[in-house]
Amino acid sequence: MRMNALFLLTAFAAVTSVSGYNILCMMFLPSRSHLHLARGIINSLLESGHQVTWVTSYPEEAPHKNLKQIELSDVRAISAALETASMEMNISQIRQFTKNISDMAASSPLVREALVKENYDAVVTEWFLSDVEAGYAAVQQAPWIVLNTVVMHPYMEYLVDSVRSLPVVPFMHYDFPIPMSFRERLVNTFTFGLMMIDNWLQYASASSRYEQHFSPIAAARGVSLPPFSEAIHNISILFVNSHPSFSNALSLPPNVIEIAGYHIDENTSPLPKDLQEILDSSPKGVIYFSMGSIIKSTGLPEKTKRDLIDIFGELPYTVLWKFEEKMEGLPKNVHIRSWMPQASILAHPNVKVFITHGGLLSMLESLRYGVPIIAIPVSSDQPGNADRSVRAGHALKVKFSPDMAPKIKTALNEMLSNDSYYKKAKSISKLFNNRPVKQSKLISHYVELAIESKGAYHLRSKSLLYKWYELWMLDQIAAVLAVLSMFYIIVKKIISTITRKPAKENIVKKNK
Ligand SMILES: *[C@@H]1O[C@H](CO)[C@@H](O)[C@H](O)[C@H]1NC(C)=O
Ligand SMILES: *[C@@H]1O[C@H](CO)[C@@H](O)[C@H](O)[C@H]1NC(C)=O
Ligand SMILES: *[C@@H]1O[C@H](CO)[C@@H](O)[C@H](O)[C@H]1NC(C)=O
Ligand SMILES: *[C@@H]1O[C@H](CO)[C@@H](O)[C@H](O)[C@H]1NC(C)=O
Repeated sequence: MRMNALFLLTAFAAVTSVSGYNILCMMFLPSRSHLHLARGIINSLLESGHQVTWVTSYPEEAPHKNLKQIELSDVRAISAALETASMEMNISQIRQFTKNISDMAASSPLVREALVKENYDAVVTEWFLSDVEAGYAAVQQAPWIVLNTVVMHPYMEYLVDSVRSLPVVPFMHYDFPIPMSFRERLVNTFTFGLMMIDNWLQYASASSRYEQHFSPIAAARGVSLPPFSEAIHNISILFVNSHPSFSNALSLPPNVIEIAGYHIDENTSPLPKDLQEILDSSPKGVIYFSMGSIIKSTGLPEKTKRDLIDIFGELPYTVLWKFEEKMEGLPKNVHIRSWMPQASILAHPNVKVFITHGGLLSMLESLRYGVPIIAIPVSSDQPGNADRSVRAGHALKVKFSPDMAPKIKTALNEMLSNDSYYKKAKSISKLFNNRPVKQSKLISHYVELAIESKGAYHLRSKSLLYKWYELWMLDQIAAVLAVLSMFYIIVKKIISTITRKPAKENIVKKNK
């Protein structure tokens, strides 16, 4: 009897000690890679026993028992446009597109109802060229957690701190060596200037969209909506997809947490049986080729596909190619699948080279498992990723074009005959994986800390409390200059009165 009571007591304690917080995650960008990135955050929170409400354009069919989903089907409807058009979209079109998506989410009746009726302990949003998302946490009066799905960049720095990286670290899309030359630093600063001017031009419209979406919700909740200018800097925790093993080391305030690689399962899932057999029976080595989810291999010209098959067929290695259609007459060593469990393949010790478009997620997976890459960048951050990896010594770059097949062959020969790329990939991988705390633990720890400390103010940069000219110390310089010039005037006056005396006497004498 006593045993039973004791058991019940401990069981009860175990249940109640799980501090299940109620967390709203606004992560609804209609793209496969953003879906992966959202899942990484959500799974970490669920594993730690929290209740998650996920606003998504791709709801899961059999969700975790603590996961509530709010589906944004109209966002998914325009995703087809993103998947096919993103390569050609210019910056103003991308901005229009993200604005549309952000407006759709904020005006969705289901989202509004949840924001009015529910009380969340924290709100997580993904930053994607828009600050209007500040409103979700503002109307909930809860800590705001931001996920930046690329490496740390000056605009994020501007939101959480003062911009300090500008003179030392080149922008994401520039491949300037560090230390930068005078001209490169000038270009870097000029780019930042243009970005801030652009931001300032967009500010009025962003601010009015913020008011338009969130004032009614704030009114319905009976809270006052903070001004946009304050809300955008009210970030408790910023998660960034960076890590010093591959991105640049920066001085960051303690509320910026680098979690690159968090989207990769900590326990690599086993390979399907057929792939396991292919990989195990290829001791000479395997080349894995995938251009990601947006660029379909079927979109390649017929001749390019044929040339690639011919080149792969001549190799003494096994080739796994993520390819979306059936193909006749394949050489025996080439295996095609429309879907590949990428992480599990890269984890296999026989994989020697990864041919990739160089999207950030694929790059991170290659670093996690230490596989050298041949990058064929196409758009957005891919050229920059490729250049950085070439410079780091674990990659070769091939230009994307219909006649790229012979160049891929040259690159493959170079990479497979010179083991410096493989060794470099392994040594960077060691740094990449060398973390005192797993990323999923960091995610739940910092979200809980933000909630328990009511906003993690103790981790935030104090720079935000100052005006820009105070940070640049212009007021201090002005004060010093004022004192110096006052001193100069006084000294000058004294000197002139001393030197003028004999002159007066002279005049007096003359008058006599
Ligand atoms: C972007 O493309 C659209 C449509 O093709 C065009 O109207 C617009 O001027 C372009 N903007 C920029 C900044 O290139
Ligand atoms: C955004 O919405 C506007 C009007 O609602 C529409 O005309 C435009 O085509 C949309 N743009 C994109 C890129 O979806
Ligand atoms: C900033 O966020 C905290 C929670 O992290 C909240 O309590 C506070 O009201 C917010 N302040 C403004 C000005 O929005
Ligand atoms: C292997 O490649 C590295 C990096 O490009 C180069 O420095 C080295 O000289 C190459 N070694 C041989 C034997 O070609």
